[in-house]
Amino acid sequence: MLVIGFNWPNFHDNAVAAVLDGKLVYASEEERYTRHKHSPYELPSNALEHCFAFLKSNYGIKPDAVDAYATNFDPKFYGMKSRAWHSFSQISLLKDYSLRNEVATIAYSNVISAITRSITSRLDFTESAKLFIKSIILHMGFQISEDEIKIFPVRHHLAHAASAYYFSGSKTALALVVDGQGETDATTAWSVRNGEFENIYSQDWNSLSMGYLYEYISKYLGFTRLEGPGKVMGLAPYGKTDKKMENRLNSLIVRIIASYFVQLSVFGICAYWMLGRNGF
Ligand SMILES: [Fe+2]
Repeated sequence: MLVIGFNWPNFHDNAVAAVLDGKLVYASEEERYTRHKHSPYELPSNALEHCFAFLKSNYGIKPDAVDAYATNFDPKFYGMKSRAWHSFSQISLLKDYSLRNEVATIAYSNVISAITRSITSRLDFTESAKLFIKSIILHMGFQISEDEIKIFPVRHHLAHAASAYYFSGSKTALALVVDGQGETDATTAWSVRNGEFENIYSQDWNSLSMGYLYEYISKYLGFTRLEGPGKVMGLAPYGKTDKKMENRLNSLIVRIIASYFVQLSVFGICAYWMLGRNGF
């Protein structure tokens, strides 16, 4: 069985991986091709194109032999407003890709089709992923019927937990995911037995995100939001304990949490004032 995974919707660090009969055979990040660090809001088009070329030259496998595609966000865990936002931002990226890459003849029909499908599917943003795959395959000179493209969206934190579990070598495991934000999850815990994942804890990002807190602190240390957390995490074991710095960080954390609650309160008061009691 051949499964290809890729980011959808696209935020940062967009990439593609292929698993053939349970073995990871290909993985590539879009930033390697575009030279834009972390590939913010870029479709993983080059990474997917190279993935298809790799499968063809190494295994003689053509794109129509891919059994399934997996994406790293699942629309059913989003509210309608977020689904609308992601559906239309993906359509806009898809339109740019189609126009840039000599598939302009299908660009507008692609966009119209993506909009129609988004609406009829109640803003299921994976519908446009199908058109993205089709565009890449046509651009490479292969043929594909859309019915052959099967997409399976995966809850973001389940994808994180699975990537840790399957490389751990353990059959039974407790997986802890501490992230900035998934669909709504910020921190989750999973009990895993023989590949069966059970979600046993979920912390919503709106109430507390350890990942975002980590980003804030990295930013305070002088790094950018996407660049900082990985570098700070990597450098931390080489540091020495510094009482003065520890005190500064502790007071920073208190200030961040306090400003977070102040923002929430101000937003709440404004919303209450604008919408009135009946708005809640
Ligand atoms: Fe994540």
